[in-house]
Amino acid sequence: MKVSSLAALLGLAALTAATNLLPRNFDANDYYVLHLDAQTHPAEIARSLGLFHEGPLGELADHHVFVARKAEDDIVRKEKRELAERRRRKRDLGERHVLDGVLFSQKQKLRKPWEKRTLPTRFGPARRTSRGQPDAQAVQKQAHVATTLQILDPIFKEQWHLFNPVQVGHDVNVTDVWLSGVTGKNATVAIVDDGLDMYSDDLKDNYYAQGSYDFNDKTNEPKPRLAEDRHGTRCAGEVSAVKNNVCGVGVAYDSKIAGLRILSKLISDADEAVAMNYDFQHNQIYSCSWGPPDDGKSMDAPGILIRRAMLNAVQNGRGGLGSIYVFASGNGAPVEDNCNFDGYTNSIYSITVGAVDREGKHPFYSEKCSAGLVVTYSSGSGDSIHTTDVGQNNCAVNHGGTSAAAPLAAGIFALVLQVRPDLSWRDMQYLAMDTAVPINPENKEDWQATTIGKKYSHTFGYGKIDSWGIVEAAKTWKNVKPQAWYFSPWIHVNKPIPEGDKGVAVTFTVTEDMLKEANLERLEHVTVTMNIQHTRRGDLSVDLISPNKVVSHLSVTRSPDNVEAGYVDWTFMSVVHWGESGVGDWTIVVKDTIKNKHTGTFTDWHLKLWGEARDASKARLLPMPTEEDDDDHAAIPTTTAQAITTTIAPNPATTKTSSVAIPTDIPDRPVKPKPTQTSDTAQPSPTQDEQAAQTSPSTWLPSFLPTLGVSASTRAWIYGAAALIIVFCSGLGIYLWMARRKRLRNNARENYEFELLDEEEAEGLASGEKVGAAGNKARRTRGGELYDAFAGGSDDEDDFDAGAYHDRADDVSPRMSEKQARGASDSDGEEEEHHVIGDDDSDDDNDRRPLQR
Ligand SMILES: *[C@@H]1O[C@H](CO)[C@@H](O)[C@H](O)[C@H]1NC(C)=O
Ligand SMILES: *[C@@H]1O[C@H](CO)[C@@H](O)[C@H](O)[C@H]1NC(C)=O
Repeated sequence: MKVSSLAALLGLAALTAATNLLPRNFDANDYYVLHLDAQTHPAEIARSLGLFHEGPLGELADHHVFVARKAEDDIVRKEKRELAERRRRKRDLGERHVLDGVLFSQKQKLRKPWEKRTLPTRFGPARRTSRGQPDAQAVQKQAHVATTLQILDPIFKEQWHLFNPVQVGHDVNVTDVWLSGVTGKNATVAIVDDGLDMYSDDLKDNYYAQGSYDFNDKTNEPKPRLAEDRHGTRCAGEVSAVKNNVCGVGVAYDSKIAGLRILSKLISDADEAVAMNYDFQHNQIYSCSWGPPDDGKSMDAPGILIRRAMLNAVQNGRGGLGSIYVFASGNGAPVEDNCNFDGYTNSIYSITVGAVDREGKHPFYSEKCSAGLVVTYSSGSGDSIHTTDVGQNNCAVNHGGTSAAAPLAAGIFALVLQVRPDLSWRDMQYLAMDTAVPINPENKEDWQATTIGKKYSHTFGYGKIDSWGIVEAAKTWKNVKPQAWYFSPWIHVNKPIPEGDKGVAVTFTVTEDMLKEANLERLEHVTVTMNIQHTRRGDLSVDLISPNKVVSHLSVTRSPDNVEAGYVDWTFMSVVHWGESGVGDWTIVVKDTIKNKHTGTFTDWHLKLWGEARDASKARLLPMPTEEDDDDHAAIPTTTAQAITTTIAPNPATTKTSSVAIPTDIPDRPVKPKPTQTSDTAQPSPTQDEQAAQTSPSTWLPSFLPTLGVSASTRAWIYGAAALIIVFCSGLGIYLWMARRKRLRNNARENYEFELLDEEEAEGLASGEKVGAAGNKARRTRGGELYDAFAGGSDDEDDFDAGAYHDRADDVSPRMSEKQARGASDSDGEEEEHHVIGDDDSDDDNDRRPLQR
């Protein structure tokens, strides 16, 4: 009854339509995404909660969208809370309730769309400086290419990024690839952006309608509708502009091009998650030239549904080979932004592409980070990217920023897929890494040698993409084995971070056995999730030093980042250690270089090594992420803590903490022989209990020196090379290796002994506890305390209602974790809409300025 009347109310007549793509009316309705277990039918949930089941959420298995009339409350959470309360009172724990089948629920909120990575207008249009004289031979070659391939496109000669006759060699080296017949045939790129002008004469023949959708206006055609909706079309032109007599050509001019419009209006995480998986059996590459603001102070990441969609894409997209995500690194370099503060660019599932200009220089805007894999050409040195524009026959002469680099890379990957459609998402990353060409490698400050004979630069990644090089290598590439990973336990530090050049260095030893057990053969990505308490985030920096002394600058100081917080379960990523074995001492160095009144504490960290499996037959798929993945900071139930101690006894991992004088500038590639493996593992293992270890630091002092690196040259590197003096500060401690334990995922709560709240409540409580701990109160990390946090929190659950976040947004924001950040900014979204949409006063389509063609 309730259901059908609701359906009528919502006017949902056409229930046969692609259900997840029905128009949304956030003014009248609420939308919930629920992840259900296998036994629970959506109709059952709908009946029980009085919701209307709209349909599945895109490609995410067992995720469904439900609709309800608009209400203040999150009614699913409320029901769950009430159920928990009833159970608490009646103690009828036995009976299964339909709500028990809800593994996850999230009330959808509209939030600001992400920002496009064109150059901020304050930088003005690119200067047009003299570009020098073309090289006669190069001009001849260019003419030959145009004649042979019958390229009649009028601005082909302006497209220096495809063929540069002035700065010879500074282009993507693609023309011989085309001449060999590789032009992107049978490859499809989706431009996730503000639309794509499918009626442009330069795009219409390559337009792939089935893979396209407008998530902002809920129509099949992702047409640019706002005056500023030009970005996606320009990006599309770089990939797939047709070889004809209009403008120029795309780098993969015979590829198919789809458009997914998400940047032109407020959007929900649910819609973005669907977009990121849209037609993912055919859309092979998703080109994304957007992200959190490049303002040098944002630190934001995709919400859980989007992260699930991205994992789902690499596991199930393209017939299981994995969708290929390409992201622009960001344009925030002038404000010291770094792409490791962006959860899309630092995802292991995306290829992060920075920019290089037509003179081979680093353009002032292009962000660096240890997650940057490669660069390719974009604006700078007085020129921009010339491409298609919105309109039937309009060309853009001023496309630039890293926004223009990512689609160029995506187009080159389309060429690769023409010759090798069987490559996995990781094969593509390997190929990009392996064939990239270092830029000015003689500049030693930029480049450090890695253990596999590559050079890495935080500015240029492994170098610039060479189309010929990557396509040739792809032809004979042997597919890599499946992915495997090793996750360290949380390594507790709890040390104040001294200001200035000193830092806190903590070492964690990874043994051969650990990696064997993890089935991990060699590294690809390394991620570090960490917690730091601080009163000014921008003062902090973090380096990770591998067993081979290869250095990742995971985090850098950012002067605009005044946020009164440190890092809360933030994950940094590095591709710098690609190919290393992973075995040995991993040292993390946290510094607070800026001397001011702001100080903080390094709480804990968690090392994750990702790479190729040893034994492909033992490989498994990574489970979907949950909000609780990183909440497992300690052995929570005290009973299992005992067990863990004994489990690890035969294979102790030691962690060492020290406050030492750290070189202000660790050389990127310190000249240092490999550290000799020492009595590390022979040391008495700190198995007993954290307190014991902490109260007897002196016991550990003697053994610290040898473990830091025994050989004279090791010491030379650390202590000597740059006239550095190691200063032992007080409080040298050893911290417990708490457990090698499987992370608790969806079932995590089964291990708790106390009454359970739903996941979001638990999360709210846990994070609320952190948030509520104002000032410098240490976060709770131990089992008993966590238990208290949960138990105590149940008394004031209401504090954790969505509304509470509104009220407390100001208090909360500086200390927000990524998920809280999203929640809080969501709640402000409607007011801040103008920021993105321009002068519009309302969210209503009718108020939009029609696009002038
Ligand atoms: C095009 O791609 C599809 C699947 O991606 C494949 O089955 C087909 O053989 C390809 N065609 C050509 C001509 O390569
Ligand atoms: C560029 O392509 C040519 C073939 O056109 C090839 O010989 C050359 O090696 C490529 N450049 C690089 C750096 O791979």
